[in-house]
Amino acid sequence: MWLAAAVPSLARRLLLLGSPPPPLLLLLSRSSSRRRRLHSLGLAAMPEKRPFERLPTEVSPINYSLCLKPDLLDFTFEGKLEAAAQVRQATNQIVMNCADIDIITASYAPEGDEEIHATGFNYQNEDEKVTLSFPSTLQTGTGTLKIDFVGELNDKMKGFYRSRYTTPAGEVRYAAVTQFEATDARRAFPCWDEPAIKATFDISLVVPKDRVALSNMNVIDRKPYPDDENLVEVKFARTPVMSTYLVAFVVGEYDFVETRSKDGVCVRVYTPVGKAEQGKFALEVAAKTLPFYKDYFNVPYPLPKIDLIAIADFAAGAMENWGLVTYRETALLIDPKNSCSSSRQWVALVVGHELAHQWFGNLVTMEWWTHLWLNEGFASWIEYLCVDHCFPEYDIWTQFVSADYTRAQELDALDNSHPIEVSVGHPSEVDEIFDAISYSKGASVIRMLHDYIGDKDFKKGMNMYLTKFQQKNAATEDLWESLESASGKPIAAVMNTWTKQMGFPLIYVEAEQVEDDRVLKLSQKKFCASGPYVGEDCPQWMVPITISTSEDPNQAKLKILMDKPEMSVVLKNVKPDQWVKLNLGTVGFYRTQYSSAMLESLLPGIRDLSLPPVDRLGLQNDLFSLLHKQADMQEEKNRIERVLGATLSPELIQKVLTFALSMSAAPLCGQCAH
Ligand code: BES
Ligand code: ZN
Repeated sequence: MWLAAAVPSLARRLLLLGSPPPPLLLLLSRSSSRRRRLHSLGLAAMPEKRPFERLPTEVSPINYSLCLKPDLLDFTFEGKLEAAAQVRQATNQIVMNCADIDIITASYAPEGDEEIHATGFNYQNEDEKVTLSFPSTLQTGTGTLKIDFVGELNDKMKGFYRSRYTTPAGEVRYAAVTQFEATDARRAFPCWDEPAIKATFDISLVVPKDRVALSNMNVIDRKPYPDDENLVEVKFARTPVMSTYLVAFVVGEYDFVETRSKDGVCVRVYTPVGKAEQGKFALEVAAKTLPFYKDYFNVPYPLPKIDLIAIADFAAGAMENWGLVTYRETALLIDPKNSCSSSRQWVALVVGHELAHQWFGNLVTMEWWTHLWLNEGFASWIEYLCVDHCFPEYDIWTQFVSADYTRAQELDALDNSHPIEVSVGHPSEVDEIFDAISYSKGASVIRMLHDYIGDKDFKKGMNMYLTKFQQKNAATEDLWESLESASGKPIAAVMNTWTKQMGFPLIYVEAEQVEDDRVLKLSQKKFCASGPYVGEDCPQWMVPITISTSEDPNQAKLKILMDKPEMSVVLKNVKPDQWVKLNLGTVGFYRTQYSSAMLESLLPGIRDLSLPPVDRLGLQNDLFSLLHKQADMQEEKNRIERVLGATLSPELIQKVLTFALSMSAAPLCGQCAH
């Protein structure tokens, strides 16, 4: 089961390319991550850091009242913004973010006082900012900032952009859609475009009356547009307090399927016209997922509706806009007749991921982009927890190990890796850190943390964090603090060793039988793909380690926190013929190197398959990586090969070969080349 699940897309891709089938070992050890990441390791082409200053804090928004009128034929839009703002410190200028937008007029009216017209708009294009200058001082207090502006519905798949589609009759048309994360809301309207500057939004769209218009909230009014009988003005309910990068609107032609989730949320999946059938699977996933998160976080979903929509031209895989989640078509649509089960699993994971952000990210938002890894790492872990709950038959955690975990270890063993947490200054650096380290290593260390804390206390800590910071912003340390007080364990100290330094440890272990007990000697060193770590001051990690024995291969006999370079542990009552293994479930983010005797003793557990599949997968990965490094030590190499050989029983080898051969003849499901 697990082997088959890990193999398909790599085999298919290679066979498609006409390459000969890869060596069996490679097939088995290299699972393919199906995610599209902008970069696999972001640091390779790092441009020089640009000086950067956050927006001044003298004036901040309370509510944006925003009306946009896109023109789907000449690809422009007109906008009117009326922002309720607070002047905290008297000033005669307002600095906001703004990019590729022309401001026509701007004024500020202090509450109960006369409007003051801005006399200058100074665009700082490099910094994507505009400074509005006023002829007199804006005094402290509240007021209304009015800005009329125009922009282009661009073709860059960011900001407010046009997406091309073909109608069932074959006519080419355009939809207007948004993608604002990380810093592109400023391309749709002048705003304070930083995650910590939250406000509410009243959004209206003026659109052709035969088009669907969607935004974060439900429609509260729809009326004819006075100047043009072909247009209507659609008004949406006020949003909760939120960050600009989560605002979204879509104008286009779509069909939908809908349901109400058990917890009373109206869920719709919007599809291209004529393809509503293909939205049914995602609808089922979303309707199961919402109550799961409500229960897990013990916090209800705060909006009355959620829409999931497939967008024809979409740069990312999906985007968690609050209440209006956008997806590329292959991440949302399932053709009930032709899609294969790995496509379903992918859709379930993406839906699980984006809906997790509705709480973790949208309700509680990172204070700055430095904490983005937490947002993405957390969602990339909990999507599996959610899919495992909703579809236990998928055995999805095995896929996590074969996709995210092994990939993260491969990359993080390289000298040019980077810590999960990198400080971000200029927003142009943000895209570089959306890589496999923030997603896959981030998810892996959170999985290890969850296992170390235990589900009950982890849930308790999550609830404390989400309740304490709801509608606000938080930093990584804030989550550690909540989890620490829920569990009584040293979470910040443990996690800092995993997030603030790159790499991970190799745990060397040897055992000695002392009467009825087994005494293990453990030591840790940084694992490097290039060979043994040679520098002085080897980095150290605080490693949660689990140990199982052949008495019960599915249960940890002992759990310890390795907080030193070396330590001994005593396993009580382990008979001489029993095997002992580290890292139950391949949950710890480390590799294990066993002494020759310990490794040999694992053979029976591998041969009789009593060692669980994910443990065998982890063992096989570790051995494979060590095999490269031990190439000069023939005896050890032979031993590793024997054990590796055993992880691939003849029966499994036959299965894989049959599968690989069958693939060369099988037709492809169009969705599989994610
Ligand atoms: N927030 C991201 C989307 C994003 C990534 C926007 C980079 C801007 C820049 C979203 O939650 C996400 O992680 N999407 C993934 C798919 C997901 C299932 C892992 C993606 O787009 O690859
Ligand atoms: Zn995400």
